[in-house]
Amino acid sequence: MTGRNRIKFLRRGEVVELAQLAPMRTLLDYLRLGEASRGTKEGCGEGDCGACTVSLGSLKDGRLVYEPVNACILLLGQVDGKDVVTVDDLSRGGKLHPIQQAMVETHGSQCGFCTPGFVMSLFALYQSDVAADRQTVVDQVAGNLCRCTGYRPIIEAALAACTGSPDDAWSRARAETAQALARLDDGSDIFIGDETAFFAAPASDAALAQLTAQHPDAVLLAGATDVGLWITKQLRDIGKIIHLGRLSSLRRVEDTIDAVRLGAAVTYAEAERALGDIDPDLTELLRRLGSKQVRASGTIGGNIANGSPIGDTPPALIALGAELELRKGATMRRIALEDFFIAYGKQDRAPDEIVASVSIPRLRRDEAFRCYKITKRFDQDISSVLGAFKFTIAARRVTGARIAYGGMAATPKRALKTETAAHSLSLDDPAGWEAAADCLAQDFQPIGDHRASAGYRAETARALFIKALTEISGMPTRATRVTGFRELVDAG
Ligand code: FAD
Ligand code: FES
Ligand code: FES
Repeated sequence: MTGRNRIKFLRRGEVVELAQLAPMRTLLDYLRLGEASRGTKEGCGEGDCGACTVSLGSLKDGRLVYEPVNACILLLGQVDGKDVVTVDDLSRGGKLHPIQQAMVETHGSQCGFCTPGFVMSLFALYQSDVAADRQTVVDQVAGNLCRCTGYRPIIEAALAACTGSPDDAWSRARAETAQALARLDDGSDIFIGDETAFFAAPASDAALAQLTAQHPDAVLLAGATDVGLWITKQLRDIGKIIHLGRLSSLRRVEDTIDAVRLGAAVTYAEAERALGDIDPDLTELLRRLGSKQVRASGTIGGNIANGSPIGDTPPALIALGAELELRKGATMRRIALEDFFIAYGKQDRAPDEIVASVSIPRLRRDEAFRCYKITKRFDQDISSVLGAFKFTIAARRVTGARIAYGGMAATPKRALKTETAAHSLSLDDPAGWEAAADCLAQDFQPIGDHRASAGYRAETARALFIKALTEISGMPTRATRVTGFRELVDAG
């Protein structure tokens, strides 16, 4: 493939060009071993602890945005076209950055191992023009673990520094940085390596089609929140990588009156507004999917394509009646999302076919949706069970139901028998709900594992079905949830 044979990104205001790029090299290895910027730490090497957090600046709808990412699982090739900011860059002329200064003043650090990661997560918040409240800060650092200091002083530091009026070298250089990033976005296809091992990042659909046809054995890379771990934890040798993050056709969010269409390479963070517009439970689901770092990198398409039985978005999107678009060269096909998941580890996708987009119908006035993620820990945890419910209601009776669960079978799966049993249920007859819930035992025979026992999963699935009907029948979520955010949303 012809095109650019190097990646380009910004470091401390200068353009860095790298023509020598081992396809699997992580950003963290480049920073610590290549650049000797050793302020960025390695803890878990799998996106869980946040010690390796750096901030990436990019243009979103023409605006410069900084987001925290886990450098340990992000591949170096993915930073093409971005501004890479690490903790080593922050202090200027012997003066600490306002985030660092606040951490000192509140005693937000003891052994200090986690501190660079916290500082870089908060650096992104500092740049965001948001006057942070406690909840915003807690969400921002949910992907950063501290084993010694305790979170109170760190949160206090963030509240003191992130006042919504950033005044540092980055906020003052916004216009220049935005212009420099716009110049890097040259629309060219990237190919570094040879026919046996390469990192490719096509910018055109034609180049992608050519690459996938010639190299059906290449690994498609989206956010690397899964593939990154194949490298750091499973020590897999991936010779050929095709990164999907530069294809504008896969990065579009299309918002129409009837549906939301998300390109497969749209990140969780980018999808948040459009999905939350369908239903506030989707906002809450995304808030609890991984961490800020994971949501800045991971994509909706990756969450679907990897076929995990405990992926968070598929059950919710299945219940909403989403449709998947798959593309092989110029050939497109559309399937119901639930039909994509055939068996554990087996999806309805040819090796040279990509997930192109997912279309999610908006709720009609007579439809109600609920979605609940059950985990051992509130933040940054994988689901034990996830239940998603869409009921059509007429005269306080259920006239239609789409119900899907994650964590209950080898794939995300609809509860077809329970859906049938839900027909004609009265919202005023809880005894009838219990009888319908009995059908869940016919729909699912869950397994037990380290996340949850089979019995816990079965009981929880049942409880979530009842909870959805309880809420839809009129019980306020303040009475049924840890956080009664639906009322807060409704109250504006
Ligand atoms: P990648 O890692 O780039 O790719 C994943 C797989 O999908 C690969 O096989 C790749 O080839 C394939 N692929 C990607 N895009 C396409 C496409 N367009 N067409 C065809 N194939 C494609 N997941 C949850 O659901 N809930 C969580 O709470 C959660 N927490 C996490 C926390 C951490 C710390 C980490 C590291 C991961 C977490 N995950 C969670 C898992 C992760 O977000 C998912 O696996 C994610 O969906 C993968 O998306 P990605 O864009 O990063 O894909
Ligand atoms: Fe733990 Fe990267 S080292 S998240
Ligand atoms: Fe030691 Fe946070 S200060 S891990």
